[in-house]
Amino acid sequence: MTHAHQACLNPRCGATYDVAEILTGCPACRSLLDIRYDWDKIAVPKSLSVFEKRWSNRLQPLDFSGVWRFRELLPFAPPDQIVTIGEGQTILQRNDRLGNQLGMKANRLFLQYEGLNPSGSFKDNGMTAASTHAHMVGAKMTACASTGNTSASLAIYAGVSGLFQCVVFVGSGKIAYGKLSQALDYGARTLQIRGDFDDALARVREICEQHPIYLCNSVNPFRLEGQKTIMLRVLEGLNWEVPDWIVVPGGNLGNCSAFGKAFEELRMLGLIDRIPRLAIINASGAHTLEQLVNQHDLTWNDGELDQTKIAAYFQSMDDHKERANTLASAIEINRPVNLEKALRAISICDGVVRSVSDQEIVDARATIAASGFGCEPASGATFAGVRQLRAEGLIGADDRVACVLTGHQLKDPDLTVAYHTTDEALRAKKLTPNGVTETPHANSPVVVDNSISAIMEALNLPAASVPK
Ligand code: F0G
Repeated sequence: MTHAHQACLNPRCGATYDVAEILTGCPACRSLLDIRYDWDKIAVPKSLSVFEKRWSNRLQPLDFSGVWRFRELLPFAPPDQIVTIGEGQTILQRNDRLGNQLGMKANRLFLQYEGLNPSGSFKDNGMTAASTHAHMVGAKMTACASTGNTSASLAIYAGVSGLFQCVVFVGSGKIAYGKLSQALDYGARTLQIRGDFDDALARVREICEQHPIYLCNSVNPFRLEGQKTIMLRVLEGLNWEVPDWIVVPGGNLGNCSAFGKAFEELRMLGLIDRIPRLAIINASGAHTLEQLVNQHDLTWNDGELDQTKIAAYFQSMDDHKERANTLASAIEINRPVNLEKALRAISICDGVVRSVSDQEIVDARATIAASGFGCEPASGATFAGVRQLRAEGLIGADDRVACVLTGHQLKDPDLTVAYHTTDEALRAKKLTPNGVTETPHANSPVVVDNSISAIMEALNLPAASVPK
């Protein structure tokens, strides 16, 4: 017995459903669903520091998990049904080198490095929660559409737990090999749909509505419960102080939605006294949220949002045959499923949305990597976004900023190598079509003959400098 239920996001509908129901949206009005709790019946610790003490109990799998360590804040599952593989061992890294480059004071810029998760991206925070719910309801088959990371994550949970089969839908030719290789290795049945991510997601939703297959995309509200804990670990890394800004890439908008919900709940529970501002960064080739918010003034409006603006925007995309297009393949999404929840998060967190070009993304990614944290291009959008918000004066030199690096560098090594290479053909194939013409942070490999003298020449070593 848990004190949780599913609730329709649309205030005009307000339908609620049992936590044991398998739903991909509100059956009454098709809106998104939220997980809500009867907090007055739940024994939530009085102080956040209680969660930190659980580190010392790490032989207990729930205390070891960086998600379930916070279980009283996502209490939808009986503890004996939780599916965990030790996810969420991620850290908040202070990075003054990056902060300095943007004229920020010391101890102000932080990177929440989610690439350290078992499948190499933040998705594991959500997938442990979705897998737990799938287990609770006895699902035998799970599915997702993916630009790569969701499929890698789902596949690892299905593979390690052995509780269910899984099938993943990916857009053909749109997935980086580092991610595809994981789904294949972990044994997921992999369908390459002739289309892009938006197509793959539409098809998998149809299949899951019509067949007993459990959907694990972020339209699944249980996934977002797990992703709330990324913010708990940010707070923990700051000794439970609230930063001024959280900066996150926006694709399907699950993360930003989860973050907004997390902060609203924490404030309501009296565990924090203020909420940080949220900056959601789109790629300019996949900027639906940024356009709707900044050009069409779309707001949450207490759930009474103007659906005609969304419909008109999607219609105009269709009329112009506009498909998402960015080198940050993880966020190459034009029809973000969590759009409405993201608007709610913006309202909760006094948030802003910005878009950055592929040139800015790949340069920012290389800059972050050069400061010691390899991440994939989508994560690079965060630093590019901070740069823009600093230039606008919105983020101050003294503000404390946490950028969420959502995925590991080795997810997309092809793009990294293309950035650093001097091979013009490779650059022309990988970078130029997306408008990336400069690579100011390139660290190109040097080709030398297989001889000591050639190596010494390449290293500028005088003959006499070799110690005897
Ligand atoms: N960063 C990475 C590394 C991702 O893989 C994704 C989403 C995002 C950011 C966007 O996050 O949807 O919460 O706004 N990747 C999905 C996938 C779409 O299929 O792996 P969001």
